[in-house]
Amino acid sequence: MRSTQVNRREFLCMAGAVGATAVAIDAGALTRVEAAGQSMAGRTAEEVARDEFYWREIQLAFKLDRTLINLNNGFTCPMPRVALESVGRYMDMINMLPVHYQGMVASNVQTLRRRMAMEFGCDPEEMALTRGASESLQIVQNGLDMKPGDEVITTEQDYPRMLTTWDQRMRRDAIKVTRLQFPVPATQDFLYNMFEKAITPRTKVFHFTHITNLTAQLFPVQRLSRLARSKGIVTIIDGAHALGHFPFQLRDLDCDAYGVSLHKWLLAPLGNGCLYVRKNMIPKFWPLQAAPEQQDDDIRKFEAIGTHPWAIRAALGESLAFHQAVGAERKAARLRYLTLRWANALKSNPRVKILSDLSEPAQTWGVCAVGVEGLDVRELATFLRNNYRIIVVPLVGGAPPNSVFDYTALRVSPNIYTTLEEIDTFVEAMEDAIKNGVSATQDLVPAYPADFTV
Ligand SMILES: Cc1ncc(COP(=O)(O)O)c(C=O)c1O
Repeated sequence: MRSTQVNRREFLCMAGAVGATAVAIDAGALTRVEAAGQSMAGRTAEEVARDEFYWREIQLAFKLDRTLINLNNGFTCPMPRVALESVGRYMDMINMLPVHYQGMVASNVQTLRRRMAMEFGCDPEEMALTRGASESLQIVQNGLDMKPGDEVITTEQDYPRMLTTWDQRMRRDAIKVTRLQFPVPATQDFLYNMFEKAITPRTKVFHFTHITNLTAQLFPVQRLSRLARSKGIVTIIDGAHALGHFPFQLRDLDCDAYGVSLHKWLLAPLGNGCLYVRKNMIPKFWPLQAAPEQQDDDIRKFEAIGTHPWAIRAALGESLAFHQAVGAERKAARLRYLTLRWANALKSNPRVKILSDLSEPAQTWGVCAVGVEGLDVRELATFLRNNYRIIVVPLVGGAPPNSVFDYTALRVSPNIYTTLEEIDTFVEAMEDAIKNGVSATQDLVPAYPADFTV
């Protein structure tokens, strides 16, 4: 029997045939990504990461503005065209007769809970679909019963909105919030010891990111979760940037709750997120919007938000299929390859400081922060935008309630659609800036989080 796998030569023939019309590429985008993947069978993710033949197919799977170089995928990411088109398709369908189709799509979407749980390693009854990490995390942050004096330990480099949520609970319920500071990059042991030392008899919650949205500092989630459980402390993990970015299984983390923005690295339509809650912990968290008592131990209680756009939720299915067609390992390896390409090219310059850990085993994939001695990061980001049409975000620590940190850097985050030419243009632009200097006084790129209300 003939194997269904496609070899490299056959794939090139298909590419030639299909490439003749853009419409055909559109129609078979997912099939082509799968075929490209099959043509790479037997090769390691690291080998595929260097194969431009494969990544060209992925680049074509997006509708982008290639007049700009988007190295700010730490914001929200573009979705692949299969997902973009399916948003329109589901919208059209629901719009034909909302009372009929809306309920139908809503019940079909239940299949996504199972598919997400299978892909990311948990029981479907532990997976709630939400609108983003803010919603997911606020459900558990606000949903836990706490008494005055109970203590939350978090960090200064956690996401500002999540810090604000704890600040509000501090005002409302008189809880205590301890924000720990750490240098970057920090070792896993350093971060573990930092949390361990901060525990007091009143500590009830550990809240931290899997990787930060600043320098992508990785945290030892499993070790900290086990430490917390041994002391009766609840773990709430901000996985906004981790799920879909690099491979891991939720159950292996051993945490109690984990919130994600799926419109980031899973490349889902804007307005998708998920919340994992360990089964025995579900009754411990109140939902943000009230649910009946019978649902106390049902993960669906966290999804009860009334009428909302089901087309956006349903199209998550296509983003997940796209993610699976590329493969979690390949995606992570390519993101790391792109990051190492620019970081290795720049790091030998004595003025360049990389603030993310590039060592092996991998702790940094598609998000990496870099500073240049003698250059103001706001001016540098403005120079890159004005002269090279490169989009990056300057990081400048804010004052509470924002994240507080004492470094400044550019956060550089390519994506799987980024070309090597775009990465090399970034390197060239940085070398130009380092050699010739930058000076911009007007229309400066806003710094995160200092210039934002988040
Ligand atoms: C670390 C982190 N947590 C939470 C969030 C909130 O995510 P969203 O705005 O998608 O709800 C973000 C968004 O950038 C983030 O970077």
